[in-house]
Amino acid sequence: MPRPLKELLKGIIGEKATNAVGAFDLIGDIAVIRIPEDLREHAKIIGETLMKVNKNVKSVWAQIGPVEGDYRLRELIYIAGEKRSETLYRENGCVFKVDITKVFFTPRLSQERKRIAELVSNGETVFNMFAGVGTFSIVIARKKISTVHSSEINPYAYEYMLENIRLNKLKGNVIPYLKDAAEVAEELKGKVDRVLMPLPEKAIEYFKYALKSLKPHGFVHVYLHISYSKGSDEKEAIKRGAEQIPLGKVIYYKAVREVGPRTVQVVYDVEVTNHS
Ligand SMILES: C[S@@+](CC[C@H](N)C(=O)[O-])C[C@H]1O[C@@H](n2cnc3c(N)ncnc32)[C@H](O)[C@@H]1O
Repeated sequence: MPRPLKELLKGIIGEKATNAVGAFDLIGDIAVIRIPEDLREHAKIIGETLMKVNKNVKSVWAQIGPVEGDYRLRELIYIAGEKRSETLYRENGCVFKVDITKVFFTPRLSQERKRIAELVSNGETVFNMFAGVGTFSIVIARKKISTVHSSEINPYAYEYMLENIRLNKLKGNVIPYLKDAAEVAEELKGKVDRVLMPLPEKAIEYFKYALKSLKPHGFVHVYLHISYSKGSDEKEAIKRGAEQIPLGKVIYYKAVREVGPRTVQVVYDVEVTNHS
């Protein structure tokens, strides 16, 4: 939490609040903050204080549950400012419209999106299996001359992806599908240079579909959640995580964000050759 907010809250609700209220995500002009259950009665004052400290924040929401379900949504409650859940978020020279209550969205992968876009060569065919509102796809197509097939099953996320393709003038470069990634893999059979799998819960199960879409030589970016027990070596756990990947050569891996206590999201870049 930024220091001024901590100081202000200390004066208002005492020492315990400042230790318990975690860092917040800023998505456009909306802040999303985690507030532990025993401090929920102070949610409004926490939200209003956050707005005082950060003048760009116009609306504050509290995350009160984990990211869940097939659509990967988090339970949010409105706490202060404008009662609005839609915003415009800018990143990597792109703009994204999102409704934080209807779609998955995290600003914490912006560096990773940039990294992937830099790996793509001009002329590549990319398949983003779990596209959301089009974040990875749009950053890639903005930076490189490429075709990014993008599948998504949440109808709201799909509609926002259509809007974001329009906003970023990438019609024809990002190809949206309101379909299960497995079906799209079948349609793209053998045509893809690079597959993105930014959904840790399904990455291993869907790896066979990623392979189906790939050319004889290609790359797959697999995202997994890696947990490690207290006192054990995080680096070793991340390295061992690669053993879950059924095929190919892991050429790079890195923790891309923290997702819980002793749990990180890790990307594994996998090179695949001569698969069938
Ligand atoms: C963790 S989110 C990632 C979204 C996006 N790549 C991002 O980073 O903002 C995963 C997305 O995959 C979608 N999804 C889940 N199962 C799917 C499937 N079988 N086929 C296509 N999309 C799916 C969810 O609705 C969700 O929007």
